[in-house]
Amino acid sequence: MSFLTDKKILLGITGSIAAYKVADWLRALRREGAKVTVVMTESACRFINPLTMAALSGNPVHTGMFAAEAPETIPHINLAREHDLLLIAPASAQTIARLAHGLADNLLATVALASAGPIIVCPAMNSVMFQHPATQANLATIKSYGYLVLDPDNGKMACDEEGPGRLTDWENARQAILSVFAPQDLAGEHILITAGPTREALDPARFLSNPSTGKMGYALAATAKQRGAMVTLISGPTALTVPPGIKCIQVTSATEMHTQVMTCLETATIIVKAAAVADYRPAEPQLHKTKKGPASLALPLIANPDILKELGERRGESSDFPLLIGFAAESHDHLKEGARKLKEKNLDLIVINDLGGTDTGFATDTNRVTLLSRNGTQEDLPLLSKEETAHRIWEAVGRLRVGH
Ligand code: CTP
Repeated sequence: MSFLTDKKILLGITGSIAAYKVADWLRALRREGAKVTVVMTESACRFINPLTMAALSGNPVHTGMFAAEAPETIPHINLAREHDLLLIAPASAQTIARLAHGLADNLLATVALASAGPIIVCPAMNSVMFQHPATQANLATIKSYGYLVLDPDNGKMACDEEGPGRLTDWENARQAILSVFAPQDLAGEHILITAGPTREALDPARFLSNPSTGKMGYALAATAKQRGAMVTLISGPTALTVPPGIKCIQVTSATEMHTQVMTCLETATIIVKAAAVADYRPAEPQLHKTKKGPASLALPLIANPDILKELGERRGESSDFPLLIGFAAESHDHLKEGARKLKEKNLDLIVINDLGGTDTGFATDTNRVTLLSRNGTQEDLPLLSKEETAHRIWEAVGRLRVGH
């Protein structure tokens, strides 16, 4: 279940060429269980047909201040009251100016004025219009009202100009929308998360690594941010996009990850080691590419630092050390191995991952994990998306915080 399930979202569309993009946003919102009603300005109706949005939302689209079929219903007041979030996307310069000045000269601006709930504004316009001091001042004004503004992306626009002004992408918008509905139980926490594999160089063309894609660690980072935390992600090489609002430090090897974790340790209140760290590295990495030679080759390896174990040792008996959460990737004796690592590495919680299944472990979008806590609790989670698994881990962290 998503935080969007059964949430009522009012989608305000204004006159920008990016209007066609939010047809996809609407479908994505509905896929996650949200109930969407659309309000369109007159100019928006020139860019995209209201019929498209009515069909995609499954609801009539509102365009005028006075509903011809039921004039007594006062649409702007009812629409404002009946929704959990007003999402204005794309927001044109004109609509942003209306919002900043409190104008109530069309349905969308009036609904915004009458709305007591959260409002997210996603500007999209020509980059010169966006950078104009008038637009910038209007954006600063609506931010001061508490509206959340999602900055547009840089890039080539429909008018052939290049610069800031492209509608933010759906993944950014989705994270912001989820943050509106997620419990803010991690507010005040500074969470350090490691993710992805490490690569241990043999020579300039080769390395030792593992199949980790970083999906679990990145899902933990995105969901922690949604729940109000400040997040630093230390990431090995992955193909993933860093979730919005997260500081990311890219590393390659286990020793680099070790250095960065120890540097960032000071300010952290929770540390989650989701990275699949290589236990060994080549003893003598070669400066030049190794040439083909004998039929067999022995490769001397030396141990990498066990970052989590070192954190556990540093913590000792201290009660003001960050909470320590580890992962255990196991192919057999899962519970026994997980319990051993929980104890040996002096952790508060360990997330035991089954490497055996096709829908769990490395590179999948789903996971089935068991959580073991220092207090002796065991929670077997069902098969869930990595995002849902991450939320369940944060709920377990919440219980640890209150001592259960
Ligand atoms: N870990 C770490 N540094 C290492 C190896 C592992 O910080 N050099 C962390 C991982 O990020 C994970 C936990 O320790 O949170 C357990 O990792 P895992 O690979 O399951 O176990 P290992 O301790 O490496 O033991 P083994 O490989 O023998 O199962």
